[in-house]
Amino acid sequence: MELTEHIPLAPFTTFGIGGPARYFARAKDISQLQEALAFAKERNLKVFFLGGGSNLLVSDEGFDGLIIKIELAGVEQEGDTIIAAAGEGWDALVLRATQAELWGVENLSGIPGTVGGAVVQNIGAYGASLSQTLAWTEVFDTTTNTLKRLSNNDCRFGYRDSVFKKESGRYVVLRAALALERDSAPNISYKDLAARFDGSSASLPQIRAAVLEIRKNKFPDLAVEGTAGSYFKNPLMPRAEALKLQEKYPDMPVFDLPESSNIKIPLAWLLDRVLNLRGYRVGSARLFEKQPLVIVADNNSRASDVKRLASDVREKIRAEFGVIVEPEVCALG
Ligand code: EPU
Repeated sequence: MELTEHIPLAPFTTFGIGGPARYFARAKDISQLQEALAFAKERNLKVFFLGGGSNLLVSDEGFDGLIIKIELAGVEQEGDTIIAAAGEGWDALVLRATQAELWGVENLSGIPGTVGGAVVQNIGAYGASLSQTLAWTEVFDTTTNTLKRLSNNDCRFGYRDSVFKKESGRYVVLRAALALERDSAPNISYKDLAARFDGSSASLPQIRAAVLEIRKNKFPDLAVEGTAGSYFKNPLMPRAEALKLQEKYPDMPVFDLPESSNIKIPLAWLLDRVLNLRGYRVGSARLFEKQPLVIVADNNSRASDVKRLASDVREKIRAEFGVIVEPEVCALG
């Protein structure tokens, strides 16, 4: 195990923000993972499993425990199933599936982060979510020190939710198996995609290219600005409640979800069309002009500014709509 101390965490996150980790280890295989966990146990340290750092806000003070960066590598294909280690890049996997002419994850093109993070977070975009293709995942159970295979059902997926968040810290995702399909109808009903394909048939590479282009126009360029994508989750509510809100705002769209019977309310729409908060700034952090659900941080920004902006926005939403929003981004330290 390679263990280092007092390592700045900002470069390990797409926000580019945050203080140092007291201890930092890389786990390239299961024995390194076990060694790191044993080290933390001996010293009674808090542990955080890091993937691509693309959904993470590290505090300015940093993290007073052990970061274990999951760097398990390897991808295999068995028939139409692709099995990838948790440290692999998510989008490289989508590219591989597209090139192998396998359907199921193309709408999730361009999402930063690792395969492990994708499973924990149950990533979703453009009418698709990871939970729709995940067959099983192999995990290390830190409570029993054993390897386990969890079925899709065992993962208890919800909207940006899973057993890995519900029982945070218990499981480390090691590998994920995606059951893909050789022949499938394109999933292009989400507005942004429907507008491009206009009911016509669409090939896998065309859908991937369209999603990448839509994302390019909606999200900040990570090479230029820091962000962790959507900062808040869209609020979910029972249909009756959503319809009541729609009575007040008749133009507001509402969305069904693959993982829930509740209705998803588009927070970006409320922030933009009702509260007019595009570009709203607190210190070095602001709501992105093209997508106000996304918080962007200036270079050398502080986590405290992002937090102040988030609590300010949260309070505005509570005051105007009586809705409590939850962060989508994970806070550390
Ligand atoms: N909208 C506006 N004004 C804006 C932006 C959006 O009115 O400035 C409206 C849109 O017209 C649309 C609605 O708000 O009707 C929703 O916007 P969008 O389609 O961009 O999706 P979102 O709900 O804001 C979610 C995910 C994104 C994912 C997109 C695309 C969450 C928290 N976010 O955003 O995921 O890429 O859908 O499917 O569910 C992430 O999780 O970090 C993330 C970026």
